Amino acid sequence: MSASTRVAVLASGTGSNLTALLDVAQTPAFPAQIVLVVSNRSQCGALDIARARGVQAVSLPVKEYGGDATARDRAILDTLRTARIELIVCAGYDRVLSDDVLAAYPDAILNIHPSLLPAFGGGMDAVEQALAAGVKVTGCTVHLLKAGAVDAGPIVLQAAVPVEADDDADTLRARIHEQEWRVLPEAVALWATGRLQVNGSKVRILAQPRQREGVR
Ligand code: GRF
Repeated sequence: MSASTRVAVLASGTGSNLTALLDVAQTPAFPAQIVLVVSNRSQCGALDIARARGVQAVSLPVKEYGGDATARDRAILDTLRTARIELIVCAGYDRVLSDDVLAAYPDAILNIHPSLLPAFGGGMDAVEQALAAGVKVTGCTVHLLKAGAVDAGPIVLQAAVPVEADDDADTLRARIHEQEWRVLPEAVALWATGRLQVNGSKVRILAQPRQREGVR
């Protein structure tokens, strides 16, 4: 942990969570700064947002690595290390990170997923799945990424969103997004202030910061 934790956002899509993070990070008291955005896409909203806000934006499509995702992820890791990134935030990143990246950032990769995990994990259609299942409550989850598991890993924060009778995927997704924009920056702040204690599959939120190892 440093005075202001250096954060990279990995994103593939629109980037509304990136915008929320950038907005909150402008608050003087926020304990983290978004210094890098990496995408697996050659173009996407998140890259445009990063460039417009003066944040380093790096596009690393797998086709530039002959389709070798492991080689591309080594390039991601090089980029993260060069930027002295301490915390990675996957905000709509639609690829599974290689074990190399996960091993380099133990308990230092946050992911946001649009359901109350462990319900409706493992796919890109969690909102549609929740509607199809007829649940009355869904929501979003911020969790730490662990090797060998997609949309799984110790849960940091969750927010519940009631499903309305006339919801479709767009209306429900919009209300889930509003909660994501709140809990993701909160989770980043908790991480950056050393208030997350990981015990196996559980995360305890500490009242006081704990000692964290130095910058990678
Ligand atoms: C979010 O709903 C997130 O939970 C999921 O992808 C979406 C990204 O949205 N993993 P945005 O690009 O941040 O708007």
